[in-house]
Amino acid sequence: MTNGRLEIDFAGIQFKNPFMLSSAPPSMNPRLVTRAARLGWGGTVLKTVTESPTVDPRTRLGALRKDGKLIGMNNIELLSRETVDTWINSYIPKMKSDSPEDFVLIASIMSSPEPEGWTALAEKFSVPGIKGIELNVSCPHGSPEKHMGAFIGQNADLVENVTRAAKKGTDLPLLVKLTPNVTDVVPIAQAAKKGGADGVSAINTVESLIGIDVETATPMPQAFPSKPGESLSTYGGFCGPAVRPIGLRIVSQIARGVPDLLISGIGGIEDWYSAAEYLMVGAGTLQVCTAAMWHGFGIIKDMTSGLEGFMSRKGYENLDSMVGVALPKLTTWEALDKLPPVVAKITDACTGCKKCVIACADGGYVAIQMRDGKAVVNAEKCDGCGLCYVVCDDRAVDFVYNG
Ligand SMILES: Cc1cc2nc3c(=O)[nH]c(=O)nc-3n(C[C@H](O)[C@H](O)[C@H](O)COP(=O)(O)O)c2cc1C
Repeated sequence: MTNGRLEIDFAGIQFKNPFMLSSAPPSMNPRLVTRAARLGWGGTVLKTVTESPTVDPRTRLGALRKDGKLIGMNNIELLSRETVDTWINSYIPKMKSDSPEDFVLIASIMSSPEPEGWTALAEKFSVPGIKGIELNVSCPHGSPEKHMGAFIGQNADLVENVTRAAKKGTDLPLLVKLTPNVTDVVPIAQAAKKGGADGVSAINTVESLIGIDVETATPMPQAFPSKPGESLSTYGGFCGPAVRPIGLRIVSQIARGVPDLLISGIGGIEDWYSAAEYLMVGAGTLQVCTAAMWHGFGIIKDMTSGLEGFMSRKGYENLDSMVGVALPKLTTWEALDKLPPVVAKITDACTGCKKCVIACADGGYVAIQMRDGKAVVNAEKCDGCGLCYVVCDDRAVDFVYNG
């Protein structure tokens, strides 16, 4: 599985490929972690551990579907159910001994805003086999009620303080896992850096209410009561392909705003293409949760071979040459050229489904008609908005300079 093109040095840690499991159920015990390790994952961030083990509601996962297809998930799960002692004395030694030597283990810890807890946990997890520590200041549900998780991650001063406190307890590289549930992520990332972080991981889940079962007027996911009766719910964390645009936005904002900070990209990574997107906006390593939960750890094979094949086709010799290559093309809205003479052109791939005709009539400029079973753009009426491109499932829309 090792492939030179996919190797990367990230905060002094050597990865054979950039793909890690993120801190979540797939990294909650030795059985899961060693299975992923043997299938070729580059590493994992372990399920977050705090001073007292979690007791979770049932159920705790909710789904967002479009036309029957899963596009997102939310969860109201908290942290590891195991004690710090179990992790240190049993889980981590077993994960290490049963995994290939080059598989990277990163611990994930969470504590209250008091610095002592972070120092103590960072010290405890600085054991043989652990290559780095991720600070979870970003869980959006449950934890903030206890002034933990995103309660800390939404406050730059607290982020700086707890990062500094964790740094006191360890010489290992530190990553601070950030929440997207902030107005501006850049000052938070700067605070992590000021506190001594080597990098940040982004994003944790997006605070959400995944849906309502309207037949029973029940918010989802439904947390069953201890004895049969009415289920309640609470706000959870949204993840999976639907959050990718938010993850890409946050990662690119950090990369542009704090250029020398390492970033581990997370949020809807499901294949080599989405991996390449995150690399191109500045992520040096990549973390996956939902795709591994939905499709299994075997997805690593297509992700590594697909990414390697893409890099080879495009002439990227190594990951470093690809990290951030899309960033110079991101600018402010004000700096964009306005109304260039660009219009849509429908290509031969058009199947005549009429979606663009309908969309352009009611959401655009009435610039597309059907002719001989195919859609045709009237260049004089087309405003170049791109709606036809958006609704076309056949990828039959190009843009051309008119005249
Ligand atoms: C059920 C579940 C549990 C999670 N638990 C944790 C956790 O303990 N610590 C943490 O930092 N992130 C946790 N996460 C967040 C993921 O690590 C990840 O940041 C998020 O799901 C976005 O990535 P994805 O779109 O690939 O799922 C959890 C996510 C899910 C779905």
